[in-house]
Amino acid sequence: MRDVVWAVDGCRVCGRDDWLDVISFGSVPLANGFLDPADRDREEPTFPLDVVACRGCWLMGLRHVVDPEVLFSHYVYVSSDSDLMRRHMRHIVELCVDRAGLAAGDLVVELGSNVGTQLGMFADAGMRVTGVDPARNLVEVANERGIDSIPDFFGPEVAGAIARENGPARLVLGRQCFAHIPDVHNILKGVDAVLAPDGVLAIEVPYLVDLFDRNEFDTIYHEHASYYSVGTLNHLFAAHGLRVVDVERVAVHGGSIVVFAARDAAPRNPAARDTAARDTAARDTAARDAAPRLPRPVVAELLAMEERCGLTSERAYLEFAERTRRVITAVGDLVRRLVADGRRVAGYGAPSKGTTLLQFCGLSHRELEFCSDTTTLKHGKLLPGTRIPVYSPEQARRNPPDYYVLLAWNYAEEIIRKERPYLEQGGRFIVPLPEPHIVSAESAGEYI
Ligand code: TYD
Ligand code: ZN
Repeated sequence: MRDVVWAVDGCRVCGRDDWLDVISFGSVPLANGFLDPADRDREEPTFPLDVVACRGCWLMGLRHVVDPEVLFSHYVYVSSDSDLMRRHMRHIVELCVDRAGLAAGDLVVELGSNVGTQLGMFADAGMRVTGVDPARNLVEVANERGIDSIPDFFGPEVAGAIARENGPARLVLGRQCFAHIPDVHNILKGVDAVLAPDGVLAIEVPYLVDLFDRNEFDTIYHEHASYYSVGTLNHLFAAHGLRVVDVERVAVHGGSIVVFAARDAAPRNPAARDTAARDTAARDTAARDAAPRLPRPVVAELLAMEERCGLTSERAYLEFAERTRRVITAVGDLVRRLVADGRRVAGYGAPSKGTTLLQFCGLSHRELEFCSDTTTLKHGKLLPGTRIPVYSPEQARRNPPDYYVLLAWNYAEEIIRKERPYLEQGGRFIVPLPEPHIVSAESAGEYI
């Protein structure tokens, strides 16, 4: 039988085998491995979760890889339909139209296209779209919604086939999936096979700087093989003839970056620039043609900031580990104390990072009665490892707890606004990060 987990030898970006041990979370089950109640007594497989940083390119990542077939072939993560996420996706369309100079009829290819929500918005704007995602169950949903999607791992073969059938892509987009992919070089070979000479690659990943700033240690789990800075992506893209030309910081998933890259050899319209000296109109055109291909100042600014924050030395990683250990102890102690005092505690949301957080803090069904979540697929299941049952919001509202641990903290604003009545009836939220604190009706103002 093929191994389902293995230790990486070299760094997946630069190939070096020189690791800083950042923090180890032991051996834990997969964050999205929800259980049927019938399997309550079955032992779950666990996999090591050791965080390391490469001293060559400062990629932070997991020391072990779990077979992507095991992780992603049947995926319960349905990209959120929340207001926040829809607003963000519309913003992505605007950004990409601007940065890639997209026009109606241009081809947009998305990897990790999930149920096709983002591509649907590009289609509404007049672009042709094709999605690629290994989760067959999600691709089926996308195709039923009329979003052309291929159930596969993105790479040179599938990308080449798209290029042959639909022509080159003006935009290749990968939102919140790049960090999941162990073999990023294969992805970039795929990009090379389908990206037009003057096309743009846009990759959205959680930003390592934000992860450190806000102690988002619960976003560390097996699906997330890598945690990127601009510096590391710059390094990676350069190895594939791509250069980072722009970076946009966005608020989703605890703070992310959208990194835009163009081919090094992208036409920069030098002829127009020569004429520019003589002709103002031509100079304007030249500026527009050349601008997206040359790195905007923000790229150098972020690289400098990352260096100042200690991301290019051991400092930032070791300090993060120290804070993480402290917050884990504090959250666990707080919940255990409340339960010992007779308070009822539940989880708000059952995100993957909630599984991780509860697991790290040593909390389980003994402390948390349930987790309330809007995702129908998760209802009636048990959280992996901690065995906490997932309730629908309706079920949860029938008998709300005294305290909700806000596991879906990335939606804090939206949730606290929506749950005003719960707070007004004396309910409270425990927001675990960056430092655990309690939100009541009186203090909710800081969020909304
Ligand atoms: P998300 O942050 O998208 O994912 P993950 O950590 O798994 O990558 O997950 C948010 C979860 O929170 C998702 O399961 C839906 C749930 N949720 C609610 O239950 N109620 C809400 O109001 C919102 C916004 C999300
Ligand atoms: Zn490296």
